This record gives sequence, C-alpha cells and structure tokens, in this order.
Amino acid sequence: MRIGIIGSGYVGTTVAACLADFGHDVIAVDVDDAVVGRLNDGESSISEPRLDALLDRYAGSSLFATTDYDDLADVDVVFLALPTPTNDDGSIDTAYVEAGAEALGRVLADVEGYPTVVVKSTIVPGTTADLIAPILERESGLRVGTDFGLAVNPEFLREGSAVEDFQQPDKLVFGTNDERALDALETVFAPLLDDVPVVRTGLSEAEMIKYANNAFLAAKISLVNELGNICKEYGVDAYEVADAIGLDDRIGEQFLRSGVGWGGSCFPKDVAALVAAARDRGYDPQLLQAAIDVNDHQPERMLDLLDEHVDVAGERVAVLGLAFGSGTDDVRNSQAIPIIEGLRERGADVIAYDPNRGAVENMRGRFPDVTYLASASPTLSGAAAALVVTDWPAFGALDREFDLMAGDVVIDGRRVVERRDGITYEGLTW
Ligand code: UDX
Repeated sequence: MRIGIIGSGYVGTTVAACLADFGHDVIAVDVDDAVVGRLNDGESSISEPRLDALLDRYAGSSLFATTDYDDLADVDVVFLALPTPTNDDGSIDTAYVEAGAEALGRVLADVEGYPTVVVKSTIVPGTTADLIAPILERESGLRVGTDFGLAVNPEFLREGSAVEDFQQPDKLVFGTNDERALDALETVFAPLLDDVPVVRTGLSEAEMIKYANNAFLAAKISLVNELGNICKEYGVDAYEVADAIGLDDRIGEQFLRSGVGWGGSCFPKDVAALVAAARDRGYDPQLLQAAIDVNDHQPERMLDLLDEHVDVAGERVAVLGLAFGSGTDDVRNSQAIPIIEGLRERGADVIAYDPNRGAVENMRGRFPDVTYLASASPTLSGAAAALVVTDWPAFGALDREFDLMAGDVVIDGRRVVERRDGITYEGLTW
C-alpha cells in the first residue's frame, strides 16, 4: 500500500518507520525542513530505541519524507498524526490538525480511487465527524463515504518503547462506519491481525477509547500514589502493598509504581482535555480532577521531605533524572520541572543529570541557568542532598558515588536507589 503520514513527531515518525517495515511505501509529510532532511538521511529527530535502525533501513527506498502535500497525490491511506496541544483551560488546541486537514483536503481531489483518511491525533469525541470531515469536504469538494473514507485509529505507544508497542500492541482500534475505510485499515495492519485483538467501532467511540485508556491509567497511578502517601504515614512499604494488590486479576500488576507521578506528552494533556470537554458538556468529573490534583501534589511532597532533613538555601542539590520517564529524551510535563522550580525557590544551587543527552538539552532550553553535568558522580559531588526524579535503571547501580556528596540525604521519587549505609534515604511513599 501507499501510505501518507502527516506529522513527523513522536507518533508520526514511529508509525512511518514501522509501516515501512510492514512492507508499505510511506510518504512522511512535515512542515519542518530539518525534520524532513533528517528522515531522508535515515535519522529521526527524536530519541526512541530501534527507531533509527528502521529509518536507516527504509529511508531512500520505501520511506520518503517531504514538506510538499502534493506528494500525497497517489496514496491509498493518509494518517493525520499532528499534535493537539493544551489550551490554557485544558481543552485541546486543534489548530495543527485543522491546518493539516485543510492542506490534505486540497490534494485529496487529485488522489485516484477511494483514499482513506485516518485520524491518529488525540481528539475529543465528535472532532473527526464535526470538525475534520467538514474541512476535508470543503477543501476537496469531495464527499466522505462517497469519494473518500474516514477513520479514527488511536495510538497507545509509550515513549521509550514505541517501536515495540507498535509491533506488539495489546489491541488495535479501528473507528469508522465505512466498510471501505475498514478494509483499508485492515490491509495497512494486516501483519498484526492474526495475533492482536481488533476493536471495530465508530468514530467517536474510537476517539473516546484513547482518552478513557489514558484517563484510567493516569488515575490508577494517582490512586496508587495516594495509597502510597498513606502508607508512608504509617511507615508501611507501599511497594509490598502494591505487589500484593496487583495479584488480584481485577487490579493487575502493571502501573502500580507509586512515586513522584506521571508526566509526558499524553497523560497530563489527555486527562486535562477530557475534564475540560466533559465540563463543556455540563458534567464535572471529580475523580479525574482529583487524579490531576494528586499528581500535581507529589513533587511538593518530595520537596517537603527534603525540607524535613536539610535547608538547601545556598547549597548544591543534585537532581537525578530530567526526562518524564526512562528511555526517552522528552521532558514535557516532567515532574522534574516543578522539582527544579521548588529547589530554586528555596535558593538551592541545582546541579542536574540525565543519562539521555537529548533530555538534558531539552531541559536546558527550559532552565538555562541550571548546571547540567555529564554523569552522576560530578553531579552528586559536594551536594547537600540528591533527588531521584526519573526511574532510569542506571540510578539503581549508583553506590559509592553517594560518598562524594557533602551531605547524605537522598530523596527517591521512583524507588530505584538501594538503601545503604552512609546515606539518609527517604522514599517518597515507602
Ligand atoms: C502513555 C500511555 O502508556 C500510552 O499508551 C499513551 O499512548 C501515551 O501515554 P507515555 O506517556 O509515553 O505513554 O509513558 P508511560 O510509560 O505510560 O508513563 C507515563 C508516566 O507515568 C511516566 O511519567 C511514568 O513515570 C509514570 N508512571 C508509570 C508511574 O508513575 N508509575 C507507574 O506505575 C507507571
């Protein structure tokens, strides 16, 4: 199949590389010349395990990147993988998706046959039918369901394992009321269909499934964080408790790691958008709002624990971990951000380290005045305290490095550091 992918960010680049790996011919469209140039050189603009190897294999043969929407003129299926960032009130900003749909609509009339437009961007229920479809029809002069197909196919990729998640998903969601669009999606994903459950549903249901999935997972972590905060009050080990409750099939063992909370490009944005969309409809979601509140509070709790041990005004404080999670360079909504802000408010001299150099550069863009060092040892050296914010496995191997500190306080927000003699260890929820 010939497949177009509009948007070459975390999602679009992964989908482009993985669909080329399925044997399709892929055209990736992005407005950024630099991103397009790198893709055609077989390199991604993001850090994602195994992605560069795939790009390197297919760029120049079955994967081609361009800034020109006219290059989409002979595709069978086009995915819209453009961002939907957050407005001040938490709702999604659909401007990029609208602009992409407009540009796509203008070339759609020139595409032979019955092309299918597939929305991969995360959008609240009704957006595809009420916003995207009318734009595509207006710009192309064509009719949905008569001249071209329309579907919603949300992604559930985790940063740090996006390629693997694409190749071995828990489920595929095909949202469309159009048999021909459904057939097109089944051809695109044919290599997965024998092994992966497929949910065939409507446009709005598919849009909602993405939000419900992320809202459930984010709320699960906030619940386990709340339970962990209570455990800490009793001196109870929240991880032993989590392991035990995870044995109940109804709860499940995953996503029970309590700590400094969730960040990244999806959970904060999607939960806020669902809350805002529900309020817009007249329903006030109290549990999801509480999930956000608990999450916002976890970094403060980490700083409170620090305050109990040491006054950091004028002191060096080491921050270990800047990315929102391990395995990524992404610092969007990272809990390291409020941690660094809180330390600076206290007058601390913040020294930071992340094993991912991209994460360091991304955080440097946000906090240019923080000192960033290239490894854990110099970061810890002379520090009055250390705060572990990201669950990079390498932090679990730190040992004698802590002897370099001037103080001995280690506040672990992710339960990765071993308790040991010589450090005053505080786990956030244990
Ligand atoms: C998430 C969803 O998992 C994915 O399906 C969706 O498409 C996008 O959002 P992602 O944000 O990339 O993916 O990362 P994920 O690994 O899910 O972690 C999200 C956040 O939750 C991270 O900040 C992580 O540290 C935190 N987390 C995760 C916990 O605090 N505890 C856990 O037990 C699991």
